[in-house]
Parts: sequence; structure tokens; C-alpha cells
Amino acid sequence: MNEALSNLGNENRSFPPSKEFAAQANAKPDIYEMADKDYLAFWGRQASNLYWHRKWDQVLDWQSPFAKWFVGGKLNASYNAVDRHVLEGRGDRVAFLFEGEPGDSRQITYSQLLIEVKKCANALAQLGIRSGDRVAIYMPMIPEAAIAMLACARVGAAHSVVFGGFSADSLLARIQDADASLVITADGGFRKGGALALKAIVDEALKGKTHVKNVLVVRRTGQEVAFSDRDIWWHDLVDKQSSDHEAQAFDSEHPLFILYTSGTTAKPKGISHTTGGYLTQASFTHRVVFDLKPEKDIYWCTADVGWITGHSYVVYGPLINGATQVIYEGTPDTPHKGRIFEIIEKYGVTILYTAPTLIRTWMKWGDEHPNRFNLKSLRLLGSVGEPINPEAWIWYRKVIGSDNCPIVDTWWQTETGAIMISPLPGITATKPGSAMRALPGISVKVVDNEAREVGNGGGGYLVIDRPWPSMLRGIWGEPERYKQTYWSRFDGLYFAGDGAKLDNDGALWLLGRVDDVMNVSGHRISTTEVESALVSHASIAEAAVVGAKDEITGQAIVAFVILRGGVAADKDLEQSLKSHVTKEIGAIARPRQIMVVSELPKTRSGKIMRRLLRDVAENRAVGDATTLADPNVMKLISEGLKSEKRED
Ligand code: PRX
Repeated sequence: MNEALSNLGNENRSFPPSKEFAAQANAKPDIYEMADKDYLAFWGRQASNLYWHRKWDQVLDWQSPFAKWFVGGKLNASYNAVDRHVLEGRGDRVAFLFEGEPGDSRQITYSQLLIEVKKCANALAQLGIRSGDRVAIYMPMIPEAAIAMLACARVGAAHSVVFGGFSADSLLARIQDADASLVITADGGFRKGGALALKAIVDEALKGKTHVKNVLVVRRTGQEVAFSDRDIWWHDLVDKQSSDHEAQAFDSEHPLFILYTSGTTAKPKGISHTTGGYLTQASFTHRVVFDLKPEKDIYWCTADVGWITGHSYVVYGPLINGATQVIYEGTPDTPHKGRIFEIIEKYGVTILYTAPTLIRTWMKWGDEHPNRFNLKSLRLLGSVGEPINPEAWIWYRKVIGSDNCPIVDTWWQTETGAIMISPLPGITATKPGSAMRALPGISVKVVDNEAREVGNGGGGYLVIDRPWPSMLRGIWGEPERYKQTYWSRFDGLYFAGDGAKLDNDGALWLLGRVDDVMNVSGHRISTTEVESALVSHASIAEAAVVGAKDEITGQAIVAFVILRGGVAADKDLEQSLKSHVTKEIGAIARPRQIMVVSELPKTRSGKIMRRLLRDVAENRAVGDATTLADPNVMKLISEGLKSEKRED
């Protein structure tokens, strides 16, 4: 368990919902009881809010650990997200308020979005993309990213969105694993005041062996790009298509997307999601957790579409619910540190969903930035991706929310597909730093090593003890790994990898990962993945990586490396190693610090004791080292590092 977070769960202040909020809230207090009575009937009712071309015969078929939801039902994700609004008379409503980093903006109504999605679907068909194919999407945060996803869903191809910050090698590995036949990208995107290349990285990736037949390229930045016969400009192909396209109905269990996430090994897992259950839970949670009033609200989730939050709470959830939402291409400090607040004021944003790392960054930058703008339109705030410390929670509430907005701290994962644990605004009295309790229809437990439930006041492992509609259906191409990773630690229970605690009132506190997965700025990175990138560098013999507490990013990557014989630790080495990791995985995996050591602490069975290295990385006294194969190792490491510092 991450010791750095052990102070969580001691906070007992409570913020009850205001009467005004409660009176208008989408969720009513009896929702928990109704769901408890018959959770399958409850989910059936939520599924009925979608449009089904054919209704399901059975809500759930559970052959543990394999689930099928809404068996026999047929629907189309893009029809539910777009067509439906136009057909039911909401076509003039704005779907996207797009804000580019350089200051350009575009408004896209549901009618316009429908035309674009249909044209893109026709373009995909012309490129030979069929139901069951996989399409890789490597895009900046521009409307075409969502259009591409919806077009894939429309023709039944599974999209695999790869975050634009990943390297060519990471992109290639994902293209190969999913065996994608098309890549959709852009020349580049605007970030931090410059044009970040994307197409060039796709070209680099595709030097590897793949079955990619075409690359469809949106012109965004206008930067120069190499073009081959394989490449097609979006404006040459998509813009010329017919705007007629009838959405076909697919089976409820038809694959909707694959999204790769880090596990405890070097190879990322292709988390596979299907259609009916995923859309049911994404749209239900979006409606009740964010209390969306689609006619009035301006919703903004700051996540990139490259992450699960962007899938469920930028694309599918909000669009199915007919939301009007902001999407922003760039970084929060370009051209100034008040950029996000400026956009909130410009559009009158009412619901903001973001990550603790950004909240802590804002705290560091100072209150003068939010205070320069009118944020009074906000009525609800959300947090996701990592535990939010009570100080950041309180600051978020006071400075951003004018002490007047409920905060929903939402716990979930790429694997869960949608929010699982969160307060419901208007119902739950919230405690700063606690995600409070499982949503209606969801059941979670905190258990000890022997899978026994801990009572109030106890801590242990968070598990999910019942299937849920948006659960992952597997790991792409690796059914055994699916069982092994999630269902083998505790018999019949889904083990999420997180530690948790129940306080004396039964409120849930998430305490971070208990496995070798780090959480840097809300992004999952496996220690093994970074270690294997490091040892692929010519100078490195061995590496061990830990996530050390970091005030802003939650955790930061600290690496301990052993050099190969004959290699000297010169000044350039650290830089060269950091660049190497960036090249291998992407900038999000760049270590904050690299320490050269002569030994690594290992148990007799050869397992690296990261706990001890974390002590060093966090400048603490080194804990119990008696299980080390060589108990002197920690002394050697500490002394070596001290003498290194002296040499500096
Ligand atoms: O450790 C938990 C943390 O993020 C992990 C899931 O990461 P990912 O699949 O990338 O999805 C992030 C966005 C949903 C979890 O295992 N996590 C996520 N939300 C919270 C959280 N930890 C504490 N509190 C949260 N609200």
C-alpha cells in the first residue's frame, strides 16, 4: 500500500447537499433502495433509455468471469449518440463547443455532427473497413477525434484510440496487438504554443510490420508532412462523401472499442469493451453523477479522448444524453495560467470534471488565476483518476466552486468502463477526499487477504463482487491473462488493484494501487514497462522503478539503475536515459529522477523490494530489510547515493 496516502481516511468533515440542489437533482434518494431490490431489473430500466433496434431477451448471462449483458439486444452506438437527437428534434442543439489552443473555435450542432459522422462512416466503408475490423485513432483533441470514433462504431469497427503523447514504439505495439487495418490521425495538434507532430510519429511506427492499409489524415496544424500512397487527407476523402448513411444495428455484445492500459507486466493490456452494457452504464452514470440537464448545462470534461475518461465522459455518455460540451485542444497554461478559467467564463460552463493533478497545479500557480475570471456559472465539480487529498478537495470547492458546488469524487478504471463509486449530488453528504459509496446497481467490498470483508474502520483491498454492465469483457487476444489478472487473487471476485479503507461511518477511501502500477497525473504506468525501456538502453544492465510521492502529480517516476560493465556515470547519462524512455514509451513515462546504484534490493526469490527503494526515493529512513537476500544492499545503495551527491 502506498504509505504516502495513509493519512487519507482521517478526515471527518462532511458537506451535506443543499436543499436547492437536492430539490432539482436527477437522482432521488430512493434510487439506492430501488436498485438493491432487484439490480438486474434496475439495469434493465437504465438500458431502456437507449434506443434498441431489437430489445434484449435476457438482462445478464453470467458465466463467471465472463458476462453478457442485454443478451439478444441490438443497437448502434453512434445512432444513440447522434441520430436520435436529430430525429427527436434536438438537431439544433450544440454538441461541441470546440476551443483550439491558438484561440480558434468551432461550434458543432447535433445535426452537423450527424452529417460528419455519416460522411466519415461512408469514407471508412470506401476504405474497406467492415464490422469487426479494428481502427487505430491517434489524434489531437479536436472534434474529428470524436467523429472518427463514432464513425467506427457506426460501421461496427472497434476503435483503439492511442493517446497522442505515446511514442512511435508504443503506437506500433498497439497497432500490432489489435491488428488494426487503418490509422486515423492528424498532421499534428497544437500544444504548449507549438505544433506537436502526429503524422510523423505514425510514419515512424508504420516502419514496423503491420496490416495497416491506409492512414487517414486530418489537416489541423498545416505543418509539413510526408505523404505516401497509403495516406489520404480527410478533406479529400471524408468531405466528398454522401451525408446519407443508415446505422446498422449490432449485437449488444458487439465489440465497441479496445483501450490499452498498463498492467504489472511490460506489455499493455488491450481492455475490450462491448456495446449495450457499456453505453447503458456510461450514460446512466453521466446523467446521475453529473446531474446533467441537457437543455441548460454546459458540461466540460477536460480528459483527452486517449483515455477511458475521454471515451465515457466526452464521447459516449454526454452525447447519448444530448449534452452541450466544451472540448479544448491544448494545455492549461497556454497562453496563460488562467486558460481553463477563461474558457469556463467564455462558455458559462456549469459542470466541470477534471483530475486532482490539475487541481493541485492550480493551487500551486495561485488563486489569482481563477480569481481573474467569473466562475459563478459552475454548479457541480467532479474529480477522477487518483485519490484527491482533502486540501485539494477543499480548495477546489472554495476557489473554483465558490463554496457552492457539490463535488463528486468518482472512482473507476479503464476496466470498469464507467463510474463505480461516487457520491450522488443532491443525496450524499460528502467528505473531502472520499469517493463515499458504490453507485446504485453496483456492489463493492473491502476485503482482507483471505477475502473476508473488513468492517467499518478497517482497510484492505477493493473488490467488486457482482458483474456490472460496463465491465471489460476481456483483454484483447489474451483470455487467460484476463482471468489471471482480475479474477484469480480472490475467488469469484474482481480485484481492481486498489487498496481501500472504510471509515467509521462506512464511507470508502481509495488509497492508491497495491500492485506495481504507478499513477502519475492520473495516468497508469507500470514499473515494469519503464524498467524494460531502461534496460533496452545500451548503458543499462538492470533497473528498478518506483512511484514516489509527488506534490503535484500524485506519484513521480524514480528509477534506480545499474550500469553495464565499463560504462561510466557521466553527466549526460541521466538526460540520455530520460530521452530514451520518452522515445520508447512517451513523455508521460519520463522519470523525474534516475539514480545510479551498484546493487538492487532483492528478496531471496529475486523479487525487487520496491518498498525499500520508495523509502530512498522519498528520503525516508529505510524500513525493514530483513527479507533481503543480502541485507547489506540498502546500506550500499544509501552510501553510494550519498557519495554521488558529494561529487555533485
Ligand atoms: O488507482 C485507481 C485510480 O486510477 C486507476 C484507474 O486508472 P485508469 O484505468 O487509467 O482510469 C483512470 C480514470 C477512470 C484506479 O485503479 N483512480 C481512478 N479514480 C480514482 C482513483 N483513485 C482514487 N480515487 C479516484 N477517484
